[in-house]
Amino acid sequence: MSVRPVLRMGDPLLLRVSEPVEELDAPQLRELLVDLHDTMAALNGAGLAAPQIGVSLRVVIFGTGAPNPRYPDAELVPPTVLINPQLEPVGGETEQGWEGCLSVPGMRGLVPRYRQLHYRGLDEQSRVIDRRVDGFHARVVQHEVDHLDGILYPMRILDMRYFGFNEELFPDQQLQDD
Ligand code: NI
Repeated sequence: MSVRPVLRMGDPLLLRVSEPVEELDAPQLRELLVDLHDTMAALNGAGLAAPQIGVSLRVVIFGTGAPNPRYPDAELVPPTVLINPQLEPVGGETEQGWEGCLSVPGMRGLVPRYRQLHYRGLDEQSRVIDRRVDGFHARVVQHEVDHLDGILYPMRILDMRYFGFNEELFPDQQLQDD
């Protein structure tokens, strides 16, 4: 197990469409999940997608059992491994919210996302996950699954005036530089 380098925006691997996981009991998948977990924990990420560590497979992890220092005011999201996720917006209503990304260090942007979401996938033991969520939880899932389709959050910003460096956008907050 190891903390892996996180690819940054500009790396072409982040723009690929990832492949579904076919072998759910492969040792490589176990290693990938451990590396994703270790890397996300080391960087206090709210989530991490396999392509961010250079693996083009449809695997994301997100959530923490404790408040995230990068998003101290956000509601808690249960720690989740999601393999081959499928998203379905509920209702179609969107809302804007600030996002950051370990692949776009030091920055934040205001991004529209569906407010309510139904998502499905498999966990690390091939059990079905089937959840209906809203708010920050829905936002995190949409952000992470976007990575599997080669989409980074700046591509979704509607008004580029609301994209910038943490220190300039939020001078009163001690946001980490990632
Ligand atoms: Ni991200």
